[in-house]
Amino acid sequence: MRSSRVAGEADGAMSSAESSAEASKGSAAPGVGGAYRVLARKYRPTNFGDLIGQDAMVRTISNAFEAARIPQAWILTGVRGVGKTTTARILARALNYELPDGSIGAPTVNMPSIGVHCQAIMESRHPDVIEMDAASHNGVEDVRQINDAIRYAPMSARYKVYILDEVHMLSPQAFNALLKTLEEPPPHAKFVFATTETRKVPVTVLSRCQRFDLRRVDADLLVRHLAGIAGKEQITVEPEALALIARAAEGSVRDSLSLLDQAIAHAAGPVRGEDVRQMLGLADRARTIDLFEAVMRGDLAAALTELRDQYDTGADPAVVLTDLAELTHFVTRVKFVPAVADDLSFAEAERKRGRGFAEKLSIRVLARAWQMLLKGIAEVEASGRPLAAAEMVLVRLAHAADLPSPDEVIRALDEKAPPARAERNGGAPAVSPPRDARPRRGAHPAGRRSARAAFRGCARGANACGRAARGLDRARRAEARPRRQGRARARRAAGALRGWPSRDRAAAECRPDAGQ
Ligand SMILES: Nc1ncnc2c1ncn2[C@@H]1O[C@H](COP(=O)(O)OP(=O)(O)OP(=O)(O)O)[C@@H](O)[C@H]1O
Ligand SMILES: [Mg+2]
Repeated sequence: MRSSRVAGEADGAMSSAESSAEASKGSAAPGVGGAYRVLARKYRPTNFGDLIGQDAMVRTISNAFEAARIPQAWILTGVRGVGKTTTARILARALNYELPDGSIGAPTVNMPSIGVHCQAIMESRHPDVIEMDAASHNGVEDVRQINDAIRYAPMSARYKVYILDEVHMLSPQAFNALLKTLEEPPPHAKFVFATTETRKVPVTVLSRCQRFDLRRVDADLLVRHLAGIAGKEQITVEPEALALIARAAEGSVRDSLSLLDQAIAHAAGPVRGEDVRQMLGLADRARTIDLFEAVMRGDLAAALTELRDQYDTGADPAVVLTDLAELTHFVTRVKFVPAVADDLSFAEAERKRGRGFAEKLSIRVLARAWQMLLKGIAEVEASGRPLAAAEMVLVRLAHAADLPSPDEVIRALDEKAPPARAERNGGAPAVSPPRDARPRRGAHPAGRRSARAAFRGCARGANACGRAARGLDRARRAEARPRRQGRARARRAAGALRGWPSRDRAAAECRPDAGQ
């Protein structure tokens, strides 16, 4: 098993008992020989109290330890950088926690000071805590070594702990070879598995372990964590910069610390929000908002000019559309949760104008824009001429701004429908409104087809609105034909079209100063 130990992985490196104690407080000294250690490694938690955002897991493990109900195997899952490897090491430390005076005789999660085995465990060099990188040791031979070695009692610690990182990478044979040992390991052995992809772990393995899903860490919590670390590093970081980093990290603590590291180097002094914006390559948000407004107003000349300007200054068309989609999502969220607009990670202009859009734009328009942008981003990425593809997406978006939504079409068809059959047929049962909107038997085939096309168009999602419009166009043409029933149906359908909001009306509604 020697070869499987993770070489050089000494994140929790503590050169002396003092520095160890310091590390447990979260302010470790620089790495060996004064070499710089990145923040993510320097501030790796050494006990459960330092872990952030994983309260449910910490509570369950703490209760299990206190009640002496310790399972033989845990499996830790979650996205990158949320604390899987860290938790595995803390577990190994807790299982083997002993003080030099021998006062602690059983596993415990209360580890106020550095115990006999703690330093070696956190440095990943304890002989009884075996860390195996399952990505590079994924064969049945590697598991056989575990099966052979596990029978022998630990050398100095209380438990032999096998930590298998990226366990989903084990081969099917290796997993099968592990099953028997995992089911009934010797009393002195424990397993901790860590993986980002539980779905690749056989259920037979999962069912033998206690599973913990580590959560993405909340942006607010990340901001507080980063602020604490910046304080320890004695670096001034603006709240806006912290909020931007926390948002970009998408819940990963490691990502947030790596970004903070980079921002500190980038700013070479106090870290301002502007520095982080620049570092993250966030396009000028004000321009994205201008573009959004032009598109929603149906002002294609302004929209296309803005897109080309951004392209000329080096913006990737796909990124521009992604920013538009993000803004659409932001406005939609503000519509339902107005407090979202108070989030500091958004620029002042973004928050103010976002509120304006949320008031003016309907949820249907926003949902349709979101769908079209998602489709458009994929098209632009696949296209050999991304700028042209992005322009066409904007054209589609601007034209869709004044199309009615499916329920508007249905409502319009209902309003224009003839009196219910009950009135015309001397008290016969009335036809329900949706059915009444459908073409009736006996109508002229051309008119019927057209009306049916219109009906189907409105019944399908936002993309079908274009088809509905075409169907209604055909209905208008059919109206001109000298066929009685077909003409009546077609006239109704064409009448519905007249009720649609015009482009000018949509533009007026969208304008931020409208209604003020
Ligand atoms: N919950 C957390 N609380 C505090 N710090 C954390 C937490 N999760 C991660 N970190 C920080 O991120 C670093 C990396 O964490 P860790 O190696 O445990 O992530 P991981 O989940 O194993 O990621 P990966 O899937 O990429 O292996 C730690 O050294 C620590 O600084
Ligand atoms: Mg890991």
